[in-house]
Parts: sequence; C-alpha cells; structure tokens
Amino acid sequence: MEILDGKKLSEDIKNEIAQEVAQIKAAGGNIPHLAAVLIGNNPASESYVRSKVRSCDQVGFESTLIRKDDSITEEELLEIIHELNTSDDVDGFIVQLPLPKHIDEVKVTLAIDPKKDVDGFHPVNFGRMAQGLPCYLPATPFGILQMIERYGIETSGAHVVVVGRSNIVGTPMSILLSRKAKTGNATVTLTHSRTKDLAAEVSRADIVIAAIGIPNFISADMIKEGAVIIDVGINRVEDETRKRGYRLVGDVDFDGVAGKASYVTPVPGGVGPMTVTSLLMNTLKSSRKEIYG
Ligand code: GUN
Repeated sequence: MEILDGKKLSEDIKNEIAQEVAQIKAAGGNIPHLAAVLIGNNPASESYVRSKVRSCDQVGFESTLIRKDDSITEEELLEIIHELNTSDDVDGFIVQLPLPKHIDEVKVTLAIDPKKDVDGFHPVNFGRMAQGLPCYLPATPFGILQMIERYGIETSGAHVVVVGRSNIVGTPMSILLSRKAKTGNATVTLTHSRTKDLAAEVSRADIVIAAIGIPNFISADMIKEGAVIIDVGINRVEDETRKRGYRLVGDVDFDGVAGKASYVTPVPGGVGPMTVTSLLMNTLKSSRKEIYG
C-alpha cells in the first residue's frame, strides 16, 4: 500500500506557485490577492481559514481576512460581498461555510461574482464545470484530481464509487471523473443515505471517494483488494490523550484498509492540504484572467 501524500504534494505545488509569483513580482506584475470572509467562532472554520491565509503567505500572495461576529446580518454580509466583487484589488474571495443559521447560504453563494468565485461554488461555475467549459473547479474535487493525476492513477474505464452527494464534494467529483477528460472517463456510481446496499456498491469500486463526514465509516471488509481509497472526511473525535482533547479521523478506517488497498490518503495530510493548494491555483488563474478574460 502506498500513501497518497497530500501534504508533500501540496508543498510541491506551492513551491511551483511561489516560483510563478516570484516571476510576476520580478516583472512588476500584479500579485495575486485572495480574501477570506470568516463569520463567527467555529473552530474547524477558523483552522481552515488560518491554513488558507498561511498558504497565501507561503507562496507570496496577498491575503485579506475579514472576520465578523456571528451577529452580523445577512444584509451586512451581502454588502461585504458586493465590496469584494467590485474591488479592483482582490482577485478572488471565499466566504467560509457553514454560516450562522440566520444567513441564507444559497443567497450568499449567488451574490458572489462567478469571476471571483475561487471556491467554484457559484452555479455558473458549477454549470460550466458540468459542461467542460473554462471555470473555477471546486477546491476539494480539484485537489483530488491533482492528486490522482500526479500519482499516475488511471481513471479511464475505472469504476469509481463516490460516497456522499454534497454540492461541494460528492456531486462535482462524480461529474468530473465521468467527463471526457484527462483525469476522467471513469464509470461513476454516486451513493448516498438512500443507497440500498452501500457495502455492495463500494466493494465493486476500483476507486472509492468517501465524503460523508462519518468517522471510520468505510471499513476493510467493504473494499476490493487493490482499490484506491480517497478519504475526504475530517472528523474530530474525543481523545483525552491529546493536549487539545480530540484527534482528527477520516471517513475511512485507515489502519483497517491499509493492508488491502493499493493507495490510501491519510487524515490529516491527505485531501485537506490539496484543497488549500487548489484555492491558490484558482486565485492565480483569476489574477491572470485565465478563465473569464
Ligand atoms: N467549508 C468547508 N469546506 C469549505 C470550502 O472549501 N470553502 C468554503 N468557503 N467553506 C468550506
């Protein structure tokens, strides 16, 4: 079994991006600028956003963090989005999800200018993705594609089983891997909470993509010998032996599948770091006006 080392791969990609930024700087060009909006004190969101801002620093991007209390009104948040949409200085921005209950996430997503939607969540980018048109790919699926491609894993003709149908991971992943494209041409089964015999579906997969948010859900007895296992889950489970009182585990029983799979992503250090580098890649594309001109 080989580890799909997202941490190492993301460092390689960040080094490549940093070199490009150095060239842009030397030529007197515009430094890519990512803004992040963080509402409230959700510890997981704080940690993700911190990692995004730190990664911007690492590659030489400019970054702006806009932090607001969770008492912010929907109207105030929409005003911030309007300012970011119209700012000449900001190439791309994200609004970290989830948002407080009194704010409509759909309304917020729709308010973001697709040209600056480096998360790739706006339906315009989603629709363009589905039709194979230039767009910002959603960061997690984009990161997984990068990982599959750079490790030379063949997807053409492979049977992929995606577990979980969220708008930001499972559904776009199923579309991307079934596209007629380089890392695509797979036969994809998208499974979810109403799937009749999930274990039977997973057992047929050459590649399993687990994105359901249930700790250790995918076990060794469910998978085929030699399968590639991509674990998108980042779940906190209580652990009194750790200083912070918890540890992170994925949706896959890593130790269990390790003896049977050909490749597995660890948690942490697998898909997570790749998501952040994808966001940087989308921001670089935006600053170069690569997608929308
Ligand atoms: N919440 C969990 N993942 C993400 C992400 O990739 N982007 C944003 N904006 N929020 C998230």
